Formats: sequence, structure tokens, C-alpha cells
Amino acid sequence: MATCRVGFITTSACPVQKERRLRERRVRLVPPRASTNSNNNGPTNKFSMDRRDVLLGLGGAAATAATVMTPGGIILPAMAAPFAPPDLTKCHTASTGSPPGMDKCCPPYSMVDIVDYDFPRTALRVRRPAHEVKNDKAYMAKYTEAVRKMKELPKDHPWNFYQQALVHCAYCNGAFDQAGYPGVLLQVHYSWHFLPWHRYYVHFFERILGKLINDDTFTLPYWNFDVKEGMTIPEIFTSDPNSPLYNEKRNIAHYHPELLDYRYAYSCAPTCSNKTGDELVQANMSYIQTTFKNSLQLPELFMGDPLRAGEPDSRQGSGGLEGIHNGLHQFVGPAEGDHTDMGNFATAARDCVFYSLHANVDRLWHLYRNFRGNRVEFDEPDWLDSSYIFYDENERVVRVKVKDCLTPTKLRYTYEEVPIPWMGSLKVQKTKETERKQELNLVTISEFGTQPRELGTAPLRVMVTRPKTNRKKKEKDAHVELIQINDIQVASTGPARFDVFIAAPYGDLAGPDFGEFAGSFVKLPHKAKKDEGVAKHKGKKTSLKLGLTALLEDIEVEHAEKLVVTIVPAGGDVTLGSIEIKLVKADSPRLIG
Ligand code: C2O
Repeated sequence: MATCRVGFITTSACPVQKERRLRERRVRLVPPRASTNSNNNGPTNKFSMDRRDVLLGLGGAAATAATVMTPGGIILPAMAAPFAPPDLTKCHTASTGSPPGMDKCCPPYSMVDIVDYDFPRTALRVRRPAHEVKNDKAYMAKYTEAVRKMKELPKDHPWNFYQQALVHCAYCNGAFDQAGYPGVLLQVHYSWHFLPWHRYYVHFFERILGKLINDDTFTLPYWNFDVKEGMTIPEIFTSDPNSPLYNEKRNIAHYHPELLDYRYAYSCAPTCSNKTGDELVQANMSYIQTTFKNSLQLPELFMGDPLRAGEPDSRQGSGGLEGIHNGLHQFVGPAEGDHTDMGNFATAARDCVFYSLHANVDRLWHLYRNFRGNRVEFDEPDWLDSSYIFYDENERVVRVKVKDCLTPTKLRYTYEEVPIPWMGSLKVQKTKETERKQELNLVTISEFGTQPRELGTAPLRVMVTRPKTNRKKKEKDAHVELIQINDIQVASTGPARFDVFIAAPYGDLAGPDFGEFAGSFVKLPHKAKKDEGVAKHKGKKTSLKLGLTALLEDIEVEHAEKLVVTIVPAGGDVTLGSIEIKLVKADSPRLIG
């Protein structure tokens, strides 16, 4: 059998090449260009080189503007509002979302010198899929040994496994205020910080593990949950209860061979998608494909909304990738109680699965960038100059910026190329309705109205007017059509979820079929601050945005003036403020079509 070289790994076949040959080019996505060249310091793509120049140019401009010093010691242009690292001396009890006894997330150091991260110059490390490494005995021995050592470190050592997990709790459950904004909690979920922060977090965790076993080629395996072989909780984490990779606090009913359901929610378990076997695999892949296809033109749909310094994490919406990831957290964590460990952010990183889940989330972001020709997602200093701090493998507290993590090779890792079956070969799942239009049971449905509406247990169906029909290619290049659900409030502190479906109406009537799946709102349990109470927590509003341009073409309803929007609740006490379909200026022209 032919061999092919992928980074440092020589595999026995070139799956990705075969995949490319076989791929039905129904959707023309720019093929991913995951770097496989070990000496390369970034994508060789011409476009990305140009972006790099732009980034350098930005840095220059910032340096000449009036500056201010943040408490984290960062010099910022006076008008800019990128996130600054927290003031370590002001760490407090994490009171949002932590289950009892889990609210002490402060790092074991406070008065330290923070230095700029000295980016590694080590050889490129290649992350491999978890379902593949399970048969690599030598690798598994190293990985297990590294985690064992990490768990055995003194409890207050910053490298200690559980200390590392607390870093996640600190940044998610409100152990810090934003630097310079007392009372505004620091939060790295639900916004454009989600992907870069977690990229760095996994990076440092991985390098510490490598250091513990003296191996500067060590990588974490990624949970390749977007291919069939990866659609179970990886067996490396479940097969041996005595392994350091094991965690007791999980939903063991979901262990291999139970298939992952992206639409899993506690309230509809075990059959949220109502599918099993290959149909479920197909539905999951279709979910991922929809998420990509409908967000390529507007990164906030994929990555989350902007969140600038001083802003609370209240109104912004998460990106589509974060939503999928939330569902996986819930799938792993126990279905009861406070869902610790994986089902609750305060404790999620106490489970090794966490880092592999995030490695794949990171890989999907990497693919997303590649599909977009490595175009920068948010070309503004408020994102690019945002900085975080971490404890590195040289035992220093280091400062890193978003703009320095956009290319994994700068962090000296990449991903082994594997087939991407959801990329181009999926058929749109045509609904029953579009197959047989004749014998329909049509029902009248109304518009959303001006008052907030509570989601009960039955689906909510409303008619929503589109701003424009039959849009031309040029218009689609310039503006993204999206559905926006505003002022989503979750009254309880538990998990919540709903799924959104889109169909064309028949005049003012709706057919029985909900139509095409557009995306989901997924919230992990998050307890209100003690002094905040549930009522006030309910005041916190968020939004959900889902791209529709490609989806409407797929189901051939470009002509429709109105759409039937069906919201299928799957748990939680949820109120919606309003629903609108609108056109938003695209960040880039269409990349598929
Ligand atoms: Cu910080 Cu998977 O969450």
C-alpha cells in the first residue's frame, strides 16, 4: 500500500487524497490547506501572506496612537477596547455557574512577572484523531504517563491537572473582573474570544504534558467527531476505569458504541434527532455542513459575536461551532444533578475528553479559515490585540495575543489530514414536504408579534417576512441573509436548548413538515450569582443568529416572501423576544455556490 507523509507521521495510506478523488463536488468549498510541511511557518497561500502584511501594518498604526496602560501592564491605543489579561491580585470566588464547592478557581500565584510569550521554535507537532491513536501502543503509553504525572504533581503546582482545570473555571465562571472594569466579569465563552482563548489553553496544556515526559513532539489526540469513526466518545477515555484518562463523572450510557447525537439534550434523550445508525451519522454531518456553509461569509455566525473590553457577556451570541460543542459537553456529562464534570463549565476541564473535544473544535476553526483562504476573521484591533495570560511549560506566566494564534503553525502544531466527508458529498436532506406537495395538511400560523413569547414544550411556529426575494449572486456576495432570534432569556440556571427549522409556506399556510434544520441554541447549566437570584439572571439576554443564504438555495425557496420558522424546544425555561430575518453586510464574497 502506498504511504504518504503527513508532517512527521507516516501513515499507510493517504485517506485525504482518496477522499478528494471520490468527493462529489456538489458544494465547491476552497479545499483546505492544512499545512503538512514541517518547516513552514504559516500557510504558503498567497492570500494569507497578504493578510500577514495587513496585520503588521495594524501593529504599526497602534504603536503611534495615544496609548494607555492597562492593569495587566499592556500598552493599548487610547480608543481601542481589546480584552486585557485580568489583574491576578484581584481574583475572587467564582460565583457564576460553579456548583457548590467548585468556586475556588484562583491560580496558585498572584504576584508574578508577566512576560510576553516566547513562541516555540520546536518542530511541528501533528495532532492525530483519538480513534486512530487508540491502536498506537507507544503513543498511548506516553499520553497516559504524561497525564498520570500531571495528576500527581503537588496540588498547588500550576501544572497540576486540577489546577489546569481551574484555569477554565476562572475564565468562565467569573473569578476575575475584566482588567480596568471592576464588576464586569471576565468571560471567554459566548463571543469571538471562544476560539482563540481555547486554542491557547489547549496549546499550553499540551506543551506541559510534553514537558512532563520530555517529549517535544507530543500532541493531544483530537476527538474527530465529524467523521463516522469519531462519532462515539473516544474509547481511549472510556475503556479502562483505572487509566488516568478515565473520569467517573460521565454518562456511561453514552459510552462506545453509542452514537453521538449533535442534537442531544437532557430533556429529549435518548432520541433527540429521532435517528439511529447511519441516518444519525448523516444528520450530524449535515449539521456541521450547514453550520459551515451558512457562516463562511460572516465569521460572527461561526465564531461568536464581538465582545470588547468593558462589555459584559450578556447580549452577544455564540457562534455555530460553539453551539455544536456545547451539545457534546452535555453528551459526555451525566444526565442528572449539576452535570459535572463535562456538562458544567466549572468542572469540564477535569475530564481529559475536554481537551480532545477542544482540539477538534480548534481543527474545525482551522478548516474554516482554510475554506476562507485564511482571510482574517475580524480585522480589527479589538479582537487581534486582545490578550490572555497562561502558565507555560517553562513555568512562566505569559501574555499572548489573539493575532498570534491565527495560524497553528506559529504555535508549532498542525492536524493530520483526514477525510472530511461532510465537506462536499452530502445531499441536502429534502423534507417530506418538498417531495410530495399534493396531499398536505396545511395549517394557519401567525407572525411572532411584538410581545416576548415563552417556549412551552410544543414547537413554536411563526411566519417571518424576508427582506428580499430572488436575490442575485452579486447581492449574495455583498449581504448575508440570516435569521436572528433576539432577547433569548433562560429563567432557570439549568441547561437549555432549542432547534430552529426553516420551510417555505404555501401562501399564508404552513405544511406539516418543519423543513430544513438551520441550527440550535444550546446553553450549559450556569448558576446565577448568589446575590443575583434567578429573577435577575432572567434579565440576561442573549441572541442567536443563523445564516440562511445557502440553506434557502438548498431547499429551493429563494422565491418565498415569507418563511415558516419552527422552534422546537428541548429543555429549559426559555423566553424569546423577537424573530427577524435580515440582510447583514458580508465580510467576504461567497466562497461556495
Ligand atoms: Cu470553555 Cu468546551 O468550553
